[in-house]
Amino acid sequence: MISIAKPMIGEEEKKAVLEVLDSGMLAQGPKVKAFEEAFAEMCDVRYAVATSSGTTALHVALLAHSIGPGDEVITTPFTFIASANSILYAGARPVFVDIDLVTFNIDPAQIEAAITPRTKALMPVHLFGLMCDMAPIVALAQAHNLIVIEDACQAHGAEYHGKRAGSFGTGCFSLYPTKNITSAEGGMITTDDEEIAERCRVIRQHGMRRRYYHDELGFNFRMTDVHAAIGLAQLQKLERFNEARIANAHFFNEHLAGVTKPIVPEGYRHVFHQYTIRVAGGRRDAVLEGLREKEIGTGVYYPVPVHQQRVYVERGYEGNFPEAERAAAEVFSLPIHPALSSAGLETIVVVVNELCG
Ligand SMILES: Cc1ncc(COP(=O)(O)O)c(C=O)c1O
Repeated sequence: MISIAKPMIGEEEKKAVLEVLDSGMLAQGPKVKAFEEAFAEMCDVRYAVATSSGTTALHVALLAHSIGPGDEVITTPFTFIASANSILYAGARPVFVDIDLVTFNIDPAQIEAAITPRTKALMPVHLFGLMCDMAPIVALAQAHNLIVIEDACQAHGAEYHGKRAGSFGTGCFSLYPTKNITSAEGGMITTDDEEIAERCRVIRQHGMRRRYYHDELGFNFRMTDVHAAIGLAQLQKLERFNEARIANAHFFNEHLAGVTKPIVPEGYRHVFHQYTIRVAGGRRDAVLEGLREKEIGTGVYYPVPVHQQRVYVERGYEGNFPEAERAAAEVFSLPIHPALSSAGLETIVVVVNELCG
């Protein structure tokens, strides 16, 4: 079986975890601090704040920017549900804007029409490892005085014209096991704003600035030193992992036929969290079945856009986002992770081309 994802855990991670266990410092401690510093450097920002997951990173980032009831946050309906859910957790309302046909990311040309006097922030999601078109998004944010919260949960090390994901506004990353690097579970918030970084640290730890003095309502969204030790060891390997993903994607781009392949616009570094292809004409399920028979793992990210999920329909969401709906019906992802062998890559190409070519 060729799996769709594979966490790459080596001796370094195991050794680092044992060191933490032996140290007796298990909760948020020196490893978390070291991981935060190294992560900030990777994103080329001044601060990083570790949390327990990508979801809690988004939640904390929204709260740190004082986004709450009565506010609207513009995002994409074609994403993992956590992007939009974090906005609901903060008490605000997600407002969806359709995606671009080619990149699967929010279409900047449609954002302005969704801005209202209640709009407080834009939440672009860098889906599958490809950043959103940030120049028009940042320009709109400046023109309308909006905050930018990047959902970079799938975009560790991705770049837009030489600038890293997580460095355009307040960035939020996931460290879930399927991501380009993992800490088993974990999240990271990145920012150049000292005050926002401090607010994130306070909200993550029960609203506590001084020990056992609680100035505001916070949470326990801390990362443990055990998780940080894994994350820190993984971070040293991020470039190697990303380059392996990019090389695998080049191989697919060269050899796959009969499917719509991912595009990398000029000036972008796509880090291929997923290699997502499109099979039109209602043929997707048959192709998925064919791949399953040949023991090739696949993933459908995502079969239902957020506005059509029951939890959103029950909250009165409807709307017409044709590209998101079409993508949900037509796309699927192939294995692209760094552990794939050349034989595995070749098998995938042969089987996909037989089914689609
Ligand atoms: C786009 C996106 N946003 C948010 C999240 C939430 O991250 P986590 O699963 O670490 O809570 C994920 C991860 O699955 C994601 O892919």
